[in-house]
Amino acid sequence: MSKTNLKKLPPAMDFETKEILKKSISTSRALANLNGVAKTIPNENIIINTLILQEAKDSSEIENIITTHDELYISTVDSSNISQATKEVNRYAKALKEGFVLVQEHKLLLIKHIVTIQSILENNDAGIRKQAGTVLKNVATGEVIFTPPQDEETIKDLLANLEEYINTKDEIDPLIKMAVIHYQFESIHPFYDGNGRTGRILNILYLVLSELLDIPILYLSRYITQHKADYYRLLQEVRTKNNWQEWILYMLDGVEQTSLETIELINGIAALMEKAKVEIKEKLPKMYSKDLVEILFMHPYTKIEFLIVSLGLHRDTASKYLRELENIGFLESIKIGRSKYFVNKALFDMLKKGI
Ligand SMILES: Nc1ncnc2c1ncn2[C@@H]1O[C@H](COP(=O)(O)OP(=O)(O)O)[C@@H](O)[C@H]1O
Ligand SMILES: [Mg+2]
Repeated sequence: MSKTNLKKLPPAMDFETKEILKKSISTSRALANLNGVAKTIPNENIIINTLILQEAKDSSEIENIITTHDELYISTVDSSNISQATKEVNRYAKALKEGFVLVQEHKLLLIKHIVTIQSILENNDAGIRKQAGTVLKNVATGEVIFTPPQDEETIKDLLANLEEYINTKDEIDPLIKMAVIHYQFESIHPFYDGNGRTGRILNILYLVLSELLDIPILYLSRYITQHKADYYRLLQEVRTKNNWQEWILYMLDGVEQTSLETIELINGIAALMEKAKVEIKEKLPKMYSKDLVEILFMHPYTKIEFLIVSLGLHRDTASKYLRELENIGFLESIKIGRSKYFVNKALFDMLKKGI
């Protein structure tokens, strides 16, 4: 059993450097704006649902679990014939939602919650590593770049320390703490698999726990994918060069850029909803309701059953609604097997493009 040299938190580092303080200000401003803009969407589940799926896709992609937007959204209406990767991406979304429920319920983010999240994601109960042997390798060369703690006792001890750090309020900016938590979690690497994805779920849950966001809508995976080499390099340099500063600046920049992009996306969705409202009211006045518009934006891919359940319609009525929405060009229908589904194409295209 090798002894780990991973240090407990808090890091012996003064985070109040000029660069970090400066970056924290613009980042906090962007994030606060995002939190405000999110409130302009009437039903919060619209953005929660669409963004979670997007993040599930991007975060899984970092771990080479690749699915397409089409396949992913089809799986929300038709669960036959879906690929292994798409199943995993759907489990990621489920794990994230469950994590959000846990944080809202307990106002704490405990190790047992993290274990629950990872078990939903991985669909097994393996839990925290009990056997030695997990190492991080350079995928290209096979060279071992980092050996996380190997014995269960050390892992649990480090996790207890992390749990305390997560749940104790102190004077350090939660955005900085989020970066510290992500590094420490990935370095403990407590699970046999799913550490990267679970760690990225923790980022957003920590922002909610810290009350910087009311709902989970800031997702860093797209930024990480676009700056992937730096992500790996900087995680490693905290360890090898004590390079906390650059790692923290990286994560802050991720939060800032992503907040700005997400604000644009949410404004885009709000504009599409407004347009849909006007159009449906004008062309199908008898059918229009606020709830109908919301359902059509909560599910970029929809089907008769969703309207039956959410709006309490009879099957024939629901089917007529969808047909007429297709006739006015608002929805596009697709056929899979013997079933027909309907796509909110403008919304889907916007999500696919990521603005
Ligand atoms: N040098 C490193 N130091 C610490 N963590 C790292 C390092 N390199 C990669 N990681 C983390 O390990 C994750 C991959 O771990 P893994 O358990 O395979 O996650 P997943 O199953 O979600 O693929 C990466 O996404 C990253 O967060
Ligand atoms: Mg993996």
